[in-house]
Amino acid sequence: MTPPPLRQRPAWRALEAHADEIGRRHLREFFEQDPDRGRRLRAQAAGIYLDYSKNRITDETIRLLTQLAVESDLANRRDEMFSGGHVNVSEDRAALHVALRMPRGTSLIVDGVDVVAEVHSVLDQMADFSTRVRSGEWTGHTGRVIKNVVNIGIGGSDLGPVMAYEALRFYSRREMTFRFVSNVDGDDFVEAVRDLDAAETLFIISSKTFGTVETLTNAHSARAWLIEQLGDDAAVAKHFVAVSTNHEKVTAFGIDTANMFGFWDWVGGRYSMDSAIGLSTMLAIGPDAFGELLAGFHAMDQHFRLALFEENLPVLMGLIAVWNRNFLGCSTVGVMPYEQYLKRLPAYLQQLTMESNGKHVSLDGIAVDYQTGPVYWGEPGTNGQHSFYQLLHQGTSIIPVDFIGFARSLHPLGEHHDLLSANVFAQAEALAFGKTESEVRRDGTAEHVVAHRVMEGNRPTNVLLADVLTPTLLGSLIALYEHSVFTQGTIWGIDSFDQWGVELGKALATVIVPELTDDAPTLGHDSSTNALIEQYRTLNGRGVS
Ligand code: F6P
Repeated sequence: MTPPPLRQRPAWRALEAHADEIGRRHLREFFEQDPDRGRRLRAQAAGIYLDYSKNRITDETIRLLTQLAVESDLANRRDEMFSGGHVNVSEDRAALHVALRMPRGTSLIVDGVDVVAEVHSVLDQMADFSTRVRSGEWTGHTGRVIKNVVNIGIGGSDLGPVMAYEALRFYSRREMTFRFVSNVDGDDFVEAVRDLDAAETLFIISSKTFGTVETLTNAHSARAWLIEQLGDDAAVAKHFVAVSTNHEKVTAFGIDTANMFGFWDWVGGRYSMDSAIGLSTMLAIGPDAFGELLAGFHAMDQHFRLALFEENLPVLMGLIAVWNRNFLGCSTVGVMPYEQYLKRLPAYLQQLTMESNGKHVSLDGIAVDYQTGPVYWGEPGTNGQHSFYQLLHQGTSIIPVDFIGFARSLHPLGEHHDLLSANVFAQAEALAFGKTESEVRRDGTAEHVVAHRVMEGNRPTNVLLADVLTPTLLGSLIALYEHSVFTQGTIWGIDSFDQWGVELGKALATVIVPELTDDAPTLGHDSSTNALIEQYRTLNGRGVS
């Protein structure tokens, strides 16, 4: 049964009234009234501890938000996703990334096919290949061992692999070099291969559709570079593999489908890092550690599927994100990992969150009359503190922040890790409680500076704390965000699995390419675009008609 429009749901209305009542109250007050709040408003699962007590919420907020989840049919929608229902309505397909991490021996029949068996057959193919490359059994065209792996892909076929490689570099095969080429800007490819020996280099062409212009352009340049370096067209066979759902296009490119690793249309690009798109990850960390990554994803999947909403990390994070977005009016969210190895996590989460929930119509195509996905952004701590945190603390916008910290470092080095962690806790504390005028005066601050030094506080944060960064933990962390995104999308009643908004720009670029290169094209754009094209042509010495 379709739930009523969002703003007509009783819980939504109650939340509006509730926000009027508590939305401006200060976190200082919440903590004074309930000194135990920090021990109550927390939850834990799959090795991740979530402190959500420093949000501008009360027990009643959580009660109303979970009621909203019930009224939005979250449990049924979640179960539909887990069972392979076509939750991606506008593309009429399943979003079954959870099947990618179901353990061997379990089964999930979708349209008469056991998708788990198919997943494990590809995982076995990946493991076999990775083992052969890592052991030196798979050699390049000239018989040399592969030492360099270059993943060519973009969007979900790049951000997951590069984030996972950086995150798990500690666990990676250090004698091997991993590079990631995504941008159609030739600088990206040229810099990636400039110091590599083609005879020792393997290219993974990662593209779900195998039709993405950036990836195919880079793949063609890679093939030209390899053939030029090795002087033989036949070299392609031992230096190129493909990860795709599209056999025909892989064959047309000239890659033998024996060297192709498949996946399925029910894996969205931004949900694909644990599919064959993770081949570079498996090459880096090995099949066993890749299995641990999958187990971490699965542990969070199970938690999301089975835990009560009130104890469910992805549900709580998703509902609080809705509260911040729709009832407190926050339009951006910062994600700050205090773990250098997670430096690419914010970029990864940008696609996951914004391509999923940046939508303007509901599932039935009606324009929404409420805000949907916020802007996500971030930088690893402590770097951000010496850059943009000023605005977080004293700017005029309220920006909720997710802090991600670890109890232990992978490189215990003097006091480094305690200094780092102290900053996680201190930043969340400062954002929540700030510094009042009287506290500033008490420090003996000169009167004319007092106002400048006041920190209003009352800035909402989540703190995620785990033991140490492992492949398992990374899987759980990513699944946590995936399901939080799903929770938000379900409340908003939008399709979190399509991405039609990226199409128009791609189509317009296709029209413009020949206008940049042809002799005397007729330009039919607006005056700004026409002038830009003319200026580009003039600077290139191509002339304008
Ligand atoms: O342009 C957006 C997008 O379709 C993403 O959703 C996707 O991750 C990316 O392009 C790459 O697509 P592909 O893997 O098919 O090359």
